[in-house]
Amino acid sequence: MDIFEIMRWRRSVRKFAPKKIELEKLRQILEMARIAPSSSNRQAWHFIVIDDPAIIKEIPKQVAMGDKVVISWLKDAPCVIAGCYTKAVTHHIATMFGHNNHLIDVAIAMTHICLAATALGIGSCFVGWFNTKRLKKLLGLPAHYQISVLLALGYPADGSTDEGIGGIKPRARKEFDDVVSLNRYGQKLRKA
Ligand SMILES: Cc1cc2nc3c(=O)[nH]c(=O)nc-3n(C[C@H](O)[C@H](O)[C@H](O)COP(=O)(O)O)c2cc1C
Repeated sequence: MDIFEIMRWRRSVRKFAPKKIELEKLRQILEMARIAPSSSNRQAWHFIVIDDPAIIKEIPKQVAMGDKVVISWLKDAPCVIAGCYTKAVTHHIATMFGHNNHLIDVAIAMTHICLAATALGIGSCFVGWFNTKRLKKLLGLPAHYQISVLLALGYPADGSTDEGIGGIKPRARKEFDDVVSLNRYGQKLRKA
């Protein structure tokens, strides 16, 4: 599959087979995060690979709302990667101009991870619903780091099809012209 096919094939996979991801593949995937672009090439990030089931099971528990566990599916993920960042001096300067480059850097690197995993037939789902303070403690993250987002990873429980990894149908997206403008907001980018 080329990169365009991988992007179209990707889905948020939330049902995983009880199979560990091979260390060699994890390293291959994380290498793609290591080489991702970052503002001023600061690479002020850290990726924590969580494969301890006790820690993974704890993540949804930490955001339970009464009986309701919003991300209950996460407890069965064989692996979760926490995308963490700290702020370099250039990030602080960028913030003065209203830019959140520290968050963008991690988001790009995590997207590299997500797409690299997809290319290897490994499903993934971003998770923004977690208790930062409690998870930081659980992961022993130094105080100057923050967690931007989590990415659950694992082989899909259901077989993949040509339509999507894990046999998952695509979710609806807005129309092209509703999200793309040419030069000024609202001006359509005409078809060639
Ligand atoms: C930053 C971010 C946070 C997300 N957080 C969650 C989450 O907490 N729980 C969840 O089940 N899905 C989460 N998702 C997955 C989205 O719901 C999913 O990407 C979206 O519905 C589109 O579906 P698709 O990824 O299958 O195309 C998140 C996605 C992103 C990009």
